[in-house]
Amino acid sequence: MQISVQQHSIITDTSDCIVVNLFEGVTTPGGATGTVDTALGGAISRLIASGDFTGKMDTSAVLYTNNQIGAARVLLVGLGSAAKFDLIAARRAAAVAGRAVGRLSGVKSYATIVHGAGIGGLNARAAAQATAEGALLSAYRPPQYRRTALPAGPLTCSVVELDADKLASIQAGVEAGAAVAAAVSQARNYVSEPGNILNPQEFAARASAMAAATGLACTILDEAAMQSAGMGIALAVSRGSKNPPRFIILEHAPKGLETSAPLVLVGKGITFDTGGISLKDPENMWLMKDDMGGAAAVVGALQAIARLQVPRRVLGVAICIENMPDGNAFRPGDILTGITGKTVEIISTDAEGRLVLADALGYVARYNPAAVVNLATLTGAIGIALGRQAAGCFANNDALQSALLAAAQRTGERLWPMPMYPEYFKPIETAMAEVKNSGGRTEGVSTSAKFIEHFTEGYPWAHLDIASMVWTDTDDNPLTPKGATGYGVRLLLDLAMEFSGV
Ligand code: BES
Ligand code: MN
Ligand code: ZN
Repeated sequence: MQISVQQHSIITDTSDCIVVNLFEGVTTPGGATGTVDTALGGAISRLIASGDFTGKMDTSAVLYTNNQIGAARVLLVGLGSAAKFDLIAARRAAAVAGRAVGRLSGVKSYATIVHGAGIGGLNARAAAQATAEGALLSAYRPPQYRRTALPAGPLTCSVVELDADKLASIQAGVEAGAAVAAAVSQARNYVSEPGNILNPQEFAARASAMAAATGLACTILDEAAMQSAGMGIALAVSRGSKNPPRFIILEHAPKGLETSAPLVLVGKGITFDTGGISLKDPENMWLMKDDMGGAAAVVGALQAIARLQVPRRVLGVAICIENMPDGNAFRPGDILTGITGKTVEIISTDAEGRLVLADALGYVARYNPAAVVNLATLTGAIGIALGRQAAGCFANNDALQSALLAAAQRTGERLWPMPMYPEYFKPIETAMAEVKNSGGRTEGVSTSAKFIEHFTEGYPWAHLDIASMVWTDTDDNPLTPKGATGYGVRLLLDLAMEFSGV
């Protein structure tokens, strides 16, 4: 869907549908909604009086205009309580409207007012960005491999504003929102793509093409380069696969900040996780195509960071490997040594995410990072702990954890702080090596974090376990249609913009 900004009154707009809004409890609409109500002879006021529309969040209603205004349909969307209204609510309302409009089969074009810029009292640019993000994220469709395409939603959305003084801010906000939504959609595409298409080589090719288009520096290490760098643990995970590994390094270095201490983002990029010799159950194994969700978030975030010219040096690193069983595969019981020289005893080849991260986290020490944040679909256990409502946030540094939690609050990409008690290291101690890669089911989520922490090299670090956030089987949230969510892109972008060091 294409999005643009236009200056005119919403009642003269000739799109197939226009979107206006209403706060909960309002009986006489004002602003643009009031203008439409008057033009329709009080139809909106009568709808409210009937009790059929209350303005609650997550609700909408359609009115047919009988040629009284330019558009044939009006979609009224609820903004919820005025007291609780914020950018998260504006973004969500735009998504609710986008989804509702998408379900009207005759609508190929629609126009919307900026949610919250008038009566809502939000900053016009920020409200326009939220409106654009909501509209575009709700309209996302995954890649299709079918001879006949599924029905498409609206092709265009115009953001309409009458006030000339606000136009430049709204234009800037919509452009930023479109850049953010494009990055989230790319992350969703990476995750949606199956393992036979998005293997490590293909992922690296796509990241490199994105980097060329956005002005990021991009270095790709192949298997030989990873070997020379000493990534013996990660390469053991890769050994059972015919698809060679790739280590992607993206760099955003604004002028004058080229040598500043970077924020380093690291993503787990297991393009398919069979479990290896510790083979997974067949049920739901197909979904292990999403085991590169951390890498997708990092590559997507770097795309947005470059497009929005964030004034900070940021590195994005994705370790892309396929975990397969064959005659060359690594085994339970194997002892491995990686980049840091620390040794690991393998208990389960299915606990591979922490293994590839061990070498990625060892590698990034060379950048003298201001902070390192890794994202990984690491454990099923995080879903037992937090369900699908938040990712777990583990950190060795309080300031970094606070910065992440604040970014989560602002973006609505939720994080919940998880403990890092020293006792969680106990279950992964072994006489054979410095650490083993599984400590059994109990405390599985915290022992995985302690394992990774063991391979950090002195820098402030946080680990986000996003295993239950990268994919959704429901349409409960209008911002994330069924399938890949793109979780983490907006969170990391916000962190990069706001983080002031630890
Ligand atoms: N990729 C999985 C984690 C996962 C599970 C992600 C379910 C999304 C949904 C990870 O590599 C894994 O297999 N973890 C094991 C660890 C265990 C073997 C210690 C797990 O969580 O069961
Ligand atoms: Mn696994
Ligand atoms: Zn995995």
